[in-house]
Amino acid sequence: MTFKNQFYELLRTRKSIRKYTDKPVDRLMVERILKAAMEAPSGKNRQNWRFVVLTGEKKNEYLEYSQKSWQGIKDILKKRLKPSLYEFTERFFYTLGGAPVVVLCYSNNDETEKKLTSIGSVYMAIQNLNLAAVAEGLGACTMGAPLEIKDELDAFIDVKELMGEDNTELLCAVTLGWPDHDPPKAKRQSENRVFWL
Ligand SMILES: Cc1cc2nc3c(=O)[nH]c(=O)nc-3n(C[C@H](O)[C@H](O)[C@H](O)COP(=O)(O)O)c2cc1C
Repeated sequence: MTFKNQFYELLRTRKSIRKYTDKPVDRLMVERILKAAMEAPSGKNRQNWRFVVLTGEKKNEYLEYSQKSWQGIKDILKKRLKPSLYEFTERFFYTLGGAPVVVLCYSNNDETEKKLTSIGSVYMAIQNLNLAAVAEGLGACTMGAPLEIKDELDAFIDVKELMGEDNTELLCAVTLGWPDHDPPKAKRQSENRVFWL
């Protein structure tokens, strides 16, 4: 396959993975993935992404927070999802699908830069992270739900002490692990998404 075709195949095959095998993920692999994340562009090249990697006991402790974040969104999902998918999602929030690694993604915001620019820069890196995971044979799921309990999570990792700076804001968590299911690709819509003038 040509580089071009491989690239489009990578984009096409990436999908959120919510069930993982027991196989541990090598630390070097996570380091490669985060290096790929940090190849992303960023406003003023501030590279304002901050990643906190949770594994082992700390990752297990994080499950309690994931379960709490579920409480904040479950009512909305109950209305939106069919019962089987609702149950699957609930189980995912309780177990994180057995993911051995969770990466908390933070933005360091700056008064001289618009907040959307800071956040956008970090999400560029998060997409790289997701794609690098696929290239490594891993699965990932980006989760905005932890925003329900942002302050509690800041305290959980003692973010200010850990990073030694102010103005860091949690954007999402990304689960990482070896896929243990192959869900269908979620449908994409092409209508009313692109406008040419
Ligand atoms: C910013 C963001 C937040 C998300 N939050 C969650 C989440 O809290 N829980 C979850 O299970 N999936 C979450 N997702 C995954 C989306 O549900 C998923 O990307 C979407 O349904 C499309 O499916 P795909 O990733 O398999 O293509 C999130 C994705 C993004 C980009």
